[in-house]
Amino acid sequence: MSALAIGWSGGLAEREQRVEVVRDAWISAYTHIFTPAEINGIFDDGLTGEGSWVPARLAPAGTLAARRGGRIVGVADLGLLRNGDGELAALYVRPEHQGQGVGTALWERSIAELRARGCQRMEVWTLARAEARHFYEARGAVAVGEGAFVVAGHREPAVGYVLDVSAARGAGRGPSTPAR
Ligand SMILES: CC(C)(COP(=O)(O)OP(=O)(O)OC[C@H]1O[C@@H](n2cnc3c(N)ncnc32)[C@H](O)[C@@H]1OP(=O)(O)O)[C@@H](O)C(=O)NCCC(=O)NCCS
Repeated sequence: MSALAIGWSGGLAEREQRVEVVRDAWISAYTHIFTPAEINGIFDDGLTGEGSWVPARLAPAGTLAARRGGRIVGVADLGLLRNGDGELAALYVRPEHQGQGVGTALWERSIAELRARGCQRMEVWTLARAEARHFYEARGAVAVGEGAFVVAGHREPAVGYVLDVSAARGAGRGPSTPAR
């Protein structure tokens, strides 16, 4: 298997690939949570999902992509919050590439990038019924908030986690610049 490379991805060139990663991860991970009509609606029919935590956002801080042989196998959206913290706003790995360290590599790089932008804490929200909670908890994130993600009147409980990223791990690395 070819080596894993983490870098920025932006603009239209790879947009289709990024959406495909998120869609495939949703279909494999959330079928016990959302109906096919809700999932298809979000990805194909302009249905919008509203997270209760979104108003805390200040600005996007780039999208990281994990690539194997030039193909995107995972994505991580970064953002800055109004309180100065960072947010891992999305983390998705193609189902056939899960369990191979891709998510962990994106997680570690996200921490390094947010820390390099002066963030002391990284926030991440996920659905209360999502398996991803175990991933975050195994990496030291602490549940600090409750909210909801609403799709076409379906209100799904969500959990907000926070990780202290101020520790020395990864220190000294300057911020790199997201692709446009
Ligand atoms: C959560 C997610 C991003 C993790 O990415 P990943 O590449 O599978 O993560 P890694 O391989 O680095 O680690 C996976 C963890 O699950 C375990 N695992 C083993 N086999 C696995 C498999 N087939 N699928 C998923 N996880 C597996 C690993 O042992 C590891 O456990 P650990 O936390 O004890 O270290 C990914 O599984 C995913 O996209 N899930 C669906 C979408 C989702 O819920 N995203 C979060 C939205 S907020």
